[in-house]
Amino acid sequence: MADFSTPYHSRDKKESGRRKKESVGNTGRLFRSVQFVSACQLSNMVREVDLRSDTVTKPTPAMRKAMAEAVVGDDVYKEDPTINELEEKIAEFLGKEAALFVASGTMGNLSAVMAHCWTRGQEIIMGDQSHMFMYEQGGISSLAGVHVSSIPTLEDGTFDLEVLKEKIRPRNPNMHEPSTGLICLENSHNRCGGKVLPLSYIREVCALARNNDIPVHMDGARIINASVHCGVPAHEIVKECASVSMCLSKLICFSCRVHRCRKVLGGAMRQAGVLAAAALVALESAEERIRIDHQRTKKFAQEIYNLKSKLITCDPAIDSNMILLQFPSPNFTNEDFVRRMAEVKIEDKEQVVVKACPWYRNRVRCVLHSDLTQEDLDSALMKIRAIANKQDPDAVVVKAGLRDKNRVRCVIHSDLNEEHLEWALQKIRKILG
Ligand SMILES: Cc1ncc(COP(=O)(O)O)c(C=O)c1O
Repeated sequence: MADFSTPYHSRDKKESGRRKKESVGNTGRLFRSVQFVSACQLSNMVREVDLRSDTVTKPTPAMRKAMAEAVVGDDVYKEDPTINELEEKIAEFLGKEAALFVASGTMGNLSAVMAHCWTRGQEIIMGDQSHMFMYEQGGISSLAGVHVSSIPTLEDGTFDLEVLKEKIRPRNPNMHEPSTGLICLENSHNRCGGKVLPLSYIREVCALARNNDIPVHMDGARIINASVHCGVPAHEIVKECASVSMCLSKLICFSCRVHRCRKVLGGAMRQAGVLAAAALVALESAEERIRIDHQRTKKFAQEIYNLKSKLITCDPAIDSNMILLQFPSPNFTNEDFVRRMAEVKIEDKEQVVVKACPWYRNRVRCVLHSDLTQEDLDSALMKIRAIANKQDPDAVVVKAGLRDKNRVRCVIHSDLNEEHLEWALQKIRKILG
């Protein structure tokens, strides 16, 4: 969870020092491929930069203080004042009649589905790359008993409205078909690298849904990112959606039946005000912090794009806090990149372990967030630069002289520079596996 109120620079030194120590504690997993750097050397030199997700951020001192001091009560009786305050603020923030604190984004989405699709034989339409479709264990079907009809998600996080029209089934279908009970959108879109849905598109989906008497649920885990990108308040974006889940983490905006659904999922957490207290701190300055994340992400992506590398590239058109790296060479895949970024070799100029997520279609997702200092980003970039500037071994021709007795002669001469030698070495390394 991110505390958006602390400026980057004031936490930089303390945080990076702490992470350096923590990274040593992680050596078993992170450094298994590096036998030649001792633990003692690592403790002094290695920085750890985590670009896997913005969900890795930790509560900050302000949040911990608020948590320790939170006034709590039994939330099932609506007697937790901190939860009540947070729910009121979020309802206002999203322009909805009520909000409900839930244990996770998955629980928020599932509770919304259960509340909307209250009767049997219903179907939900959603993108086939949406979080709800991909990563929530199919709970919509296995727990809520709702059928899913998926539409191919396009690269920008939308789906084709003509296909949507075809997929919608009548509220009172013939006896053979389920009826469409809900349409789900996701904004910003996780699998699509943080793409923000155009407002006009959301309006069109909602109009289509309204004409067919179908509610729209927005998975708005990162709705504040969408709002910051569009320069439009979150409540305006979700104005026509019947429900929204958002992550601070985690809340769902909604009312009535959803309390029952949360309860059956085991999410009525009693004295959960300690968590709501941290969320209240985050909410205070979320927009400002996310604006900074977006600026830094754009800059980070532009730097990578400017490398014009044959091994690593990206689309510099960034909407929010995610970058999808691409790997054009068949000899250097996303898995190679992730492995190399997590490795520290003694000869590496930048002694840094960078964690990133291998993504579908041979890509890697990098997510920027408030726990990253400028120093962290500079180190990660230096490491990417060093890898990106390496020549593709298969694009290098190395000539050497065949000699007798099964030998090859290599002669170093004045026309060869450091780079040539490095390329030749890389090629030899590749051949030797
Ligand atoms: C778009 C989106 N929706 C829902 C979730 C689920 O949140 P949780 O991991 O809290 O269940 C996530 C998680 O990152 C997400 O990215």
